[in-house]
Amino acid sequence: MEDTPTPSTALTYLNPSYWDERFSKEEQYEWFKDYSHFRHLIQPHLTPHSAVLELGCGNSQMCEQLHKDGTTNITCIDLSPVAVQNMQKRLLSRGFKDIKVLQADMLELPFEDECFDLVIEKGTMDVLFVDSGDPWNPKPETIFKVMATLKGVHRVLKAGGTFISVTFGQPHFRRPIFNAPDFNWSVEWTTFGETFHYFVYVLKKGQRSSYDDIPPVKRFEASPINLLHEELESEDFAFRINVDELNY
Ligand SMILES: C[S@@+](CC[C@H](N)C(=O)[O-])C[C@H]1O[C@@H](n2cnc3c(N)ncnc32)[C@H](O)[C@@H]1O
Repeated sequence: MEDTPTPSTALTYLNPSYWDERFSKEEQYEWFKDYSHFRHLIQPHLTPHSAVLELGCGNSQMCEQLHKDGTTNITCIDLSPVAVQNMQKRLLSRGFKDIKVLQADMLELPFEDECFDLVIEKGTMDVLFVDSGDPWNPKPETIFKVMATLKGVHRVLKAGGTFISVTFGQPHFRRPIFNAPDFNWSVEWTTFGETFHYFVYVLKKGQRSSYDDIPPVKRFEASPINLLHEELESEDFAFRINVDELNY
């Protein structure tokens, strides 16, 4: 990545001015892997009429690729005004006039209840975990932020809607959070990638029989896709240091 060195500590990712500075120099960067690597896991949850919200779009191309796949009602948010401005310009210049891009904090989603069919995030919630301390027992401030995000996502999802999280976070750490009694959704996960596996969680609103019931977090089978050059990017690695280094 030109001009944007990997930060020396993953805590930098929590600093909003880091993202503004980064996006003022960097045109495009895809965290983890691009959409082609996990498209087969997302598409079954979409129709051409789905209203989609992407959390923390940065300068990723995922919204364009979703649009090319036929889902055109897309709203992207990012905390960084620089990311939002650049994304708006880029989408206009590429002819994606109907994708909406707003500056907003995922901890306080500025949308009405039950207005999206699908909410998706890739690497955005991971930012909240870079300062979590012991992953078995994350700091209360981390839990507070993650729960604020998830409560917002749950609120804006329609009944039967889907939240998809593409992340480094492993099931033993995500399960207790996704399964909190505040949420009425089922939780399933799978992986993609070859040399390194990323996790994809699929949460379906309205599929938990009761708020007291703790449903199993099941792994679902997905056909593998054949893509070469599956390597962990250097920055993915830096990000992972604090997210997951203690996981093993
Ligand atoms: C690791 S990058 C992922 C970017 C993009 N999703 C991708 O896959 O390439 C995290 C993004 O989340 C944004 N972000 C961080 N905290 C946020 C928050 N509270 N609300 C919305 N966006 C946030 C950052 O500005 C950055 O664009």
